[in-house]
Amino acid sequence: MTEGEDKCRGVRHVAIIMDGNGRWAQQRGRPRAFGHSKGVDAVREAVRAAGDAGVKYLTLFGFSTENWRRPSDEVDALFDLMKRFVDADLAKLDREGVNIRIAGRREGLSEDLLSIIERAERTTARNDRCFLTIAFNYGGRDEIVRATRRIAKDVAGGRMNPEDVDEAVFASQLDTAGMPDPDIVIRTSGEHRTSNFLIWQAAYAELVFLDVLWPDFSARHFEQALSEFASRQRRFGGVDAA
Ligand code: IPE
Ligand code: IPE
Ligand code: MG
Repeated sequence: MTEGEDKCRGVRHVAIIMDGNGRWAQQRGRPRAFGHSKGVDAVREAVRAAGDAGVKYLTLFGFSTENWRRPSDEVDALFDLMKRFVDADLAKLDREGVNIRIAGRREGLSEDLLSIIERAERTTARNDRCFLTIAFNYGGRDEIVRATRRIAKDVAGGRMNPEDVDEAVFASQLDTAGMPDPDIVIRTSGEHRTSNFLIWQAAYAELVFLDVLWPDFSARHFEQALSEFASRQRRFGGVDAA
C-alpha cells in the first residue's frame, strides 16, 4: 500500500458541494463574482489534497441547473471562470495524469465552453491516476430524467425489455457511468442540504458539513472530512459485523 492509499482511509470517491463564495465576498464588501474567482484557487487546493490523499475520484459541484435563477452577470461570471479554469489548468492536470469529465446537461452551454469541455475530456481520456469530474449545469433530477429518456428510447425501439431495466442499467445511463458512488459528500458554508447534487449516487454517502466558506477551503478541511468519515460506521442497511 502506498502512503497515499493509506491516507485515504479506504475512500475512493469524494464529492464536494462548493458553497459560500457569495457570502465570503459579501463579508469583504466585494461583489459575489470576486468570491467565485477566489473559489477557483480552492478548487486547485481540493484537487491537490485529493491527489495527496490518494483519493481516486473527486467530483465538484460548479453550477447547478437551478443556478440559472441568479442574476445574469453572476451566471456569466461563473461560465467565464469555468472556461478560464479548464483552459489554464488543462495541460498541468493532463501531465499529472488527471482524467477530466464534465457531468451535467450540455444543452444551454455556449459553443466556446462546449469546445473547451470536449477538448479537456478528449485530451485526458486515457489518464487514470485520478478522475476529476466537474458537475456543471448539473442537477440530479435533470440527470435522472435524461437517463430515463435514453432508456425509454431503447425500450420503445425494441432494443431493451422493460424487465431488463435494473439499477445497474440505470446507473450506466447517468453522467457518472463507470464511477464508484461517492463515499463522502462534503458541503461547505454550513448549509445542511444537498441542493440536487448526485441524488442517485449519494444514496449511501456519508455527509460531512463544514463551517468553512468555499474560498477558505484548504487541504486541512479535506483531511478533516476524511477523518470524520473514518469515525463513521457504514451499514448499507445491514447490521454491524460485531
Ligand atoms: C457557491 O457559492 C458557488 C455556486 C453555487 C456556483 P455561492 O455563490 O452559492 O455562495 P453563497 O451560498 O451565496 O454564499
Ligand atoms: C449548490 O449551491 C450549487 C453549487 C455549489 C454549484 P447553491 O448555493 O446553489 O444551493 P442553495 O441555493 O443554497 O440550495
Ligand atoms: Mg450557495
